[in-house]
Parts: sequence; C-alpha cells; structure tokens
Amino acid sequence: MQRRTLLKVIGGSLVAIAGAGTAFLSTRDPAAARAPWAAAATEADPRLFVLRHAILAPNPHNRQPWVIALEANGQASVYCDLDRRLPETDPFDRQILIGFGCFLEMAAIAAAEKGIRLGIEAFPEGEPGERLDARPVARLTFTAEAAMPKNPLFGQIRHRRSVKEAFDASKPVPRETITALSSAATPIAVSGSVEPVLLGDLRKLTWDAWAAEAENTATWMESVNLMRIGRAEIEANPDGIDLGGPLFDTLKLAGLLDRAQLADRSTQAYKGGEESYREIMATSMGFLWWTSTGNSRREQLEAGRSFVRSHLQATALGIGFHPVSQCLQEFADMKPHFDRVHALLGVDSPGRIQMLARLGHATVPVPPAPRWPLETKLKAA
Ligand SMILES: Cc1cc2nc3c(=O)[nH]c(=O)nc-3n(C[C@H](O)[C@H](O)[C@H](O)COP(=O)(O)O)c2cc1C
Repeated sequence: MQRRTLLKVIGGSLVAIAGAGTAFLSTRDPAAARAPWAAAATEADPRLFVLRHAILAPNPHNRQPWVIALEANGQASVYCDLDRRLPETDPFDRQILIGFGCFLEMAAIAAAEKGIRLGIEAFPEGEPGERLDARPVARLTFTAEAAMPKNPLFGQIRHRRSVKEAFDASKPVPRETITALSSAATPIAVSGSVEPVLLGDLRKLTWDAWAAEAENTATWMESVNLMRIGRAEIEANPDGIDLGGPLFDTLKLAGLLDRAQLADRSTQAYKGGEESYREIMATSMGFLWWTSTGNSRREQLEAGRSFVRSHLQATALGIGFHPVSQCLQEFADMKPHFDRVHALLGVDSPGRIQMLARLGHATVPVPPAPRWPLETKLKAA
C-alpha cells in the first residue's frame, strides 16, 4: 500500500489526528525488524555470513519460509517451513520455490565474497510433487577456493528493495536498461520492454489481475491475515505485508485502519489501498519477465536465481524494481489474466512466464523490509 495516496483518501481524518504528537510520530520506525540487514555485514563466521545474506532474499509475501539445518560435516540443508506457504495465491508452491531460488543465489554470491564456492544440490532426497514436502529443497556445501572470483552483485544485496510504490511518471526507463537486464540464457530467458503500446497493455493487465485477486475473498483474506499494521505488530512478526511508518501507525491509533476494515471492501481503508494500487500499476515505466520452457521444480528454482540477479543488477543501475505476480497465479478466477499475459508476451504452453516485474524510478526512499533474525530459522541437524 502506498502512503501518499492513502493520505489523500483519508486526508480529512488525518488532519484531525495530527495532534498524535511528534514524539509518537518520530518513534514509529520498526527498527528492530530491520536489524538482520545490518547483522549480515558484521558476521565473522563464513557459513553464517552466507546465511545472513541469504535470508535477505526477496520472497512472496515476505513469508521467509526457510529453515536451515547446520550439519556437523560443515554442510547445511535448507527446508521449507510448510506452514509458511500461501495455499490460496500459490496453490502449487511455485512462488514459494522461486523465493528459495532467490535465497540460494544470494547465498552463492555471498559465499564468493568470502572465497567460498557454494555447492548447491537441489532436492537431494528427491523432487517434490504437486506441493512441497518435508524433504530438503537444497543441500549446501562450502568449499574454500583461493581463486574464487568475487561477484560484483554482492555490493547490492543490502541495498535491494521491492519498490511497492508509484514510480515517477515523468522519468522513462531507458531502452538500454532493458537491454542490459535481458538475457536469452537457458533455462530461464529474461525479456523486457518499454514499448508504449505494450506498456499500456501491461499496466491495464496488472491492474485487472490485482483487482481479481482482491475481489476473490479467499485470496484477499490470505493477504489481509498477513498484514502487520504499525510498529508493534511488525516487530512482533517481522514478516508478511508490513504497513509501517508514522502514517499507518497514526491511522491505526485513530481506529481508521485494522484488518477487519481492510477485509471489508466498503471501507475507506480498503478503498485507500485499492486506489494506491491503481496508481502503482498505472506508473509502471517498463516491465521485465522471466520465461521457462516448462514448469519443473528445477526451472522454478532457476527462475528465482535469475530473477534475483536481475533485481540486484537493476539496483546497481538505480532502477526501482517491483514484482507483480497476480496474473501468473494459478487459481480459477485468475485464469483469463494468466492466459492474456501469456498471449500478450507470446509465450506458448508448455512455456511459462515465471515472474513479471514493473520498473521505474522511485520517488521516495524505500526502507529495508522486515526480517526474522537468522537464529529463528536454524534447526538442529
Ligand atoms: C516469487 C515472488 C513473488 C512476488 N510477488 C509479489 C507481488 O505480486 N507483489 C509485491 O508487491 N511483491 C511481490 N514480491 C516481493 C515480496 O513481497 C518481497 O520480496 C518481500 O516483501 C520482501 O521485501 P524485499 O524484497 O524488499 O526484501 C514477490 C517476491 C517473490 C520472490
């Protein structure tokens, strides 16, 4: 949800409650929830250094579904916390697995920084079927290697943000940026466009798909139940959809924003959020998409690896980057939008678009998203 528009929609009430006090307003940042971003930089143990960077990976609804077992032989196994999946919007755990791909790629980049070659064995005890299961997603091996080249993307890991905001509509994304971020590599091709007609079609399509998800009670409630409103809720549960900062805290204090209101489409709280997303989708200044030739579990993992490399490259180029996944989701109401995006971008079955991101220039600084500390994600091997 975007702060400025919400202010416009519920503006009258906000003036009335501005007396909340500057001491209250200036202490609303959920700083404790952002601590893992700083902790990554100062970790001395190489294996923990790698993992502290990996948990900063983008992942759907910020569920952070990883559980890591540190093994006595120096290896680590990565599992999915099955309670942290998104069964309504991600019925086959496809997006969750893409998030694991992001985690593994960021782990490999951080390992190289420490002169370590990270061995990644995907699904060491076999591939999951229609849903993920209790078997590991990956087994990691850490091997010191004197000539291991560093990855220039490492420096972007702690600066990467999902920019869930309207972009500056007066600033186009240069064509050269799309060229720099595109790749015909297999198994995941990265394509993009700033071509005006396609941009217009994709802006409309991403908005229609956002509305389809919001108008379906089951998928919308999955999001509502994961909203953390205000500093106290975010610090207590540093995951999900964080609505933090002085504005959201004030609206909450004034009784103008809570989960029950967000669940009810007739409220100003819901309409404010809807309005802000309409503006977000209307200000997409470019798009990138990631295509696989099939939809195997390994391709989904690879899609995550490719996706986060692009995200880090865009960060280096100063381009705001925001995944918009609604039209790629597999529930029945989304089918027309799913078919449309594949037709529009010329991807025929069994080819599959795994990710779609909007690009532009951010107009506000975006703080790091909340994270659970690594310690809460470790389990005994
Ligand atoms: C597979 C996948 C799908 C995502 N889909 C969306 C989306 O549809 N809309 C959105 O705002 N963010 C989406 N995100 C971004 C996450 O919400 C974001 O990574 C998470 O909130 C953590 O924030 P950060 O990326 O700034 O660290 C997606 C991320 C991944 C990996």
